[in-house]
Amino acid sequence: MARIFLALMIVACAMVACAPSSGDSGDSGSTAANESKPAGGTDEASNEEGKKLFTQYCAVCHGPDGKLGLNGAKDLTVSETTLEERIEQVTHGKNAMVPFENVLTKEQIEAVAKYTMTLKQ
Ligand code: HEC
Repeated sequence: MARIFLALMIVACAMVACAPSSGDSGDSGSTAANESKPAGGTDEASNEEGKKLFTQYCAVCHGPDGKLGLNGAKDLTVSETTLEERIEQVTHGKNAMVPFENVLTKEQIEAVAKYTMTLKQ
């Protein structure tokens, strides 16, 4: 008799343990929704995003620090261009530089252009 009681206790515990875990997955769903907000918002978040994008899309020609200058790419650490000019150039390209308007979103282009401003020494 004691064994059956024990077995029932184990089943009951398993059921109780099940309930909060489904509550957790509901929470993590709302956390993901929160994360998508600051990505386009605060400057710190977009710089982090910009750095990632730069490494992924720009470093092949400009180098991870902006100095590489492959195929005539300009040294971004000495570039005097404004943020607006950079956004424009990344969007539409210039000479050997490829346009990114079909590769990145407006927000991503802005983020990566902002990041290149921080490379200046
Ligand atoms: C295919 C190689 C290539 C890639 C990839 C590339 N660039 Fe360039 N970039 C160039 C070249 C070449 C130039 C010089 C264009 C010119 O003025 O003739 C340039 C120029 C620039 C300039 C202007 C600098 C100045 O002083 O005139 C900026 C800003 C820039 N690139 C940013 C970026 C960013 C941001 C990315 C990534 C989204 C990127 N580039 C990806 C080749 C590249």
